[in-house]
Amino acid sequence: MPTDIEQQFIDLHPNSRLRHETAKEMFPNGVTHDARRQHPFQLYYTHAQGPNKYDVDGNKIIDFWSGHGSLILGHSHPDIVSAIQNQITKGTHLSGSTDLEIEWGQMVMDLIPSAEKVRFHSSGTEADMMAIRMARAYTGRKKVIKFKDHFHGWSDYVSFDGDGIGGIPNEIAETMIVIPPNDISVVQKVLDENDDVAAVILEPTGAHMGLNPIIPSFLQELRDLTLQKNIVLIFDEVVTGFRISKGGAQSHYGITPDMTTLAKILGGGLPGGAVAGKAEIINMIEPSGDPEWDRNRRIAHNGTFNANPLSAVAGITALKLLQNEPINDKANSMGQRLKSGLNGLLAKLEIPGCASGINSLIHLRLGVEHECDREICLMTDRDMKISTDSIRNAQLNLALLNRGVHSGTRFILSATHEEEDIDETLDAFELAFMDLKNQGNL
Ligand SMILES: Cc1ncc(COP(=O)(O)O)c(C=O)c1O
Repeated sequence: MPTDIEQQFIDLHPNSRLRHETAKEMFPNGVTHDARRQHPFQLYYTHAQGPNKYDVDGNKIIDFWSGHGSLILGHSHPDIVSAIQNQITKGTHLSGSTDLEIEWGQMVMDLIPSAEKVRFHSSGTEADMMAIRMARAYTGRKKVIKFKDHFHGWSDYVSFDGDGIGGIPNEIAETMIVIPPNDISVVQKVLDENDDVAAVILEPTGAHMGLNPIIPSFLQELRDLTLQKNIVLIFDEVVTGFRISKGGAQSHYGITPDMTTLAKILGGGLPGGAVAGKAEIINMIEPSGDPEWDRNRRIAHNGTFNANPLSAVAGITALKLLQNEPINDKANSMGQRLKSGLNGLLAKLEIPGCASGINSLIHLRLGVEHECDREICLMTDRDMKISTDSIRNAQLNLALLNRGVHSGTRFILSATHEEEDIDETLDAFELAFMDLKNQGNL
């Protein structure tokens, strides 16, 4: 028996429902990405422009997923569209080097402080796999420290500590050390007990795009400790790169890691990834001429679509716009407006919770009374569990879609969100909160 919110969702989206019936015979759960699984069904979209996307039933939806974080310029930015159109007539794959890859690499080096050298990939998952492999090859050590819940793509090494670990060999666990973040004494203890640690990898603003924040002083402590112990520090800036600031979280905090992984905004809305960092680490790909070293230490790396011309032109265009125009400032100010608006709404409706987050990555947490400084908001495990209650949050997500907003409890802002979009979103939240109250979910 559907809830009232679910029934309204079904009534408003008959054409998406039809497509779901076909797709579920074709794809697991009918979708092509775990994060798109949705009960009773996922929406199907036809097109998008700026901050909005449109579904197959003709509904306009304000989009806060923003291409899973890749679209800080909003959907179909005209400069990116024309760069892609122009390049497509010149070739999408030249099976060789192009000026474009040099220009794209230079942009990365200009913007990202840790980037002495760059290697392109097709996704963030690949970039993270490569960064870990490079750190291991470079140090000759095996273990890698990662932090609880930090996401680094879906490869075996970094996903064995979550749900859905079918097919990952148990031996992987012996090569990874998973610890809670924000306590340097825990890291120190691990390093005192292990002399085989190659790297520490983390999302520099915290797990789930900053939902479980990292305290900036911990980043500095981590930098100091890894330097002292000669361990490679990897910032996974797949989400935060070019977003938290033009130069990513590392510029924002003034802390330079040894290696950085990038994707999402890097590709200007097309697939792209990169690992950047200390030249001598990235150079682990270069043959040395010594057969023993080339066989056992060098990293072989191919990839059909590495630095492909289409992703390169989209990426160059996006990064140039970021470099020359106040793109980050605009997205950040909309993030601030949304955050204040949500906190005001919670207070007005006497709903326990808070909105927090850094710059253009905002999170809403419901169900817990919370003192929140509105940028970095730390919670106990118990409160975190309450605030991420999956039944309530799934109903909220559907209620918001019914009201024309795709966010759930996480917002990834773009520079095309305008004040009116934020205000429309807040109105939708007010109505969605009422829907939840009426159903007894709030
Ligand atoms: C922090 C982080 N690292 C890595 C990845 C994986 O990137 P991709 O989806 O491009 O493989 C993601 C994807 O959301 C991410 O959020």
